[in-house]
Amino acid sequence: MSAQPNVSAKPRITRRVMAAQPSASMALEARIGEMRAAGEPVISFGAGEPDFPTPDAIKLNGHEAIDTNLTKYTPAGGTVALHKAIAARMKADTGLDYKNSQITITNGGKEAIYLAMQALVEAGDEVIIPAPYWVSYPEMVRLADGVPVIIPTTVKENFKVTPEVLRAHTTPKTRMFVLVSPSNPTGEMYTKNELEAIAEWLRGNDALILTDELYDRIVYDGEYARWLVVAPDLADRTIVVNGLSKSVAMTGWRIGFAAGPEAYIKAMVKVQGHSTTHPSSISQHAALKAYTTNLDAEIAKMVAAFRERRDWIVDALCEIPGVTCLTPPGAFYVFPDLTGLYGKTLKYGGPFNSTAEIAGYLLDKVKVGIIHGEAFGAPGCARMSYALGMDKIQEGLKRMYDALTIVA
Ligand SMILES: Cc1ncc(COP(=O)(O)O)c(C=O)c1O
Repeated sequence: MSAQPNVSAKPRITRRVMAAQPSASMALEARIGEMRAAGEPVISFGAGEPDFPTPDAIKLNGHEAIDTNLTKYTPAGGTVALHKAIAARMKADTGLDYKNSQITITNGGKEAIYLAMQALVEAGDEVIIPAPYWVSYPEMVRLADGVPVIIPTTVKENFKVTPEVLRAHTTPKTRMFVLVSPSNPTGEMYTKNELEAIAEWLRGNDALILTDELYDRIVYDGEYARWLVVAPDLADRTIVVNGLSKSVAMTGWRIGFAAGPEAYIKAMVKVQGHSTTHPSSISQHAALKAYTTNLDAEIAKMVAAFRERRDWIVDALCEIPGVTCLTPPGAFYVFPDLTGLYGKTLKYGGPFNSTAEIAGYLLDKVKVGIIHGEAFGAPGCARMSYALGMDKIQEGLKRMYDALTIVA
């Protein structure tokens, strides 16, 4: 008899993976994919990626990599040429010098964060994550057997944490603080003064700082305040995470990086060496172009389009009775507050008492996909990406206005 996998046995999955939640945005996209395949005209505000193509100059380098056989392994953590280009970017952005051994190139910003958690968070270590948070942070902490310490923030505070609250959540087990600005999911951004106050809190403890700067080029209002410019004295415990996914519309190429103290980066590269080794050699060569060419004009065009959509969508959301929405200064998300709709009977159903219910209702009744705030640790709100064409945004908002009409 040939050996067969034992399908009747209860599958044994590790405790840490069982404890992690699947990504809500990916789940929504999967559901929408099925609906579209069945011919349903869904409009999705779920996408976390620019709807613009990768700039041509970068694409050409991708072709060149294939044509010149740059199709073999590179060193773990990426090519020397790309390290140098990223070090030059770090110098331009922060004024600080980063050596080759202080940078690792990763499969998107996501892998950089994952490696940091695996290499730097011990079982039981606490990682402070302000909410609303990007869905993967707490799960990555859990996958490292760490403890996510979630700090809720409110609309009134523009969804930003203050040092007072951070101090109240600091314990001897505090290992890391995760900072993201501009933020996914809120689009909010910390000012220089706010970062200075956070730095003051950190000077009183020994926590590491992970600063996720994926959206640093997608800024509409005010000046972007960069963590290491504000707090260069904390560079010896700061891990910078950045990449090309959002700023240069390269989500599928999977290029990100981490830059930080040598000992931490080396530890991260050790994990990388035993898992993914490095991102695709072809993507790395394309990324080299992205980091060595001036793409300001392309980025400015994309940002101008996002700004126009942001202004339109914020106004349109605020016109819906029961909905309020801040005007976020960065990224490409709005994070409207839907609590004014709680307990109301809406045109095609209700009453509802959670954004998960409202999001489900919108998808079922008018084929509009938004992501419920509960997934980001922020019940009452929802995330809507405006990285889709203006015609779709307008149609989506028309459907929402209709379906969210309060009838009782
Ligand atoms: C705040 C934030 N950090 C990191 C990432 C990961 O980006 P990448 O696609 O480069 O892995 C994302 C993607 O959605 C993000 O929003």
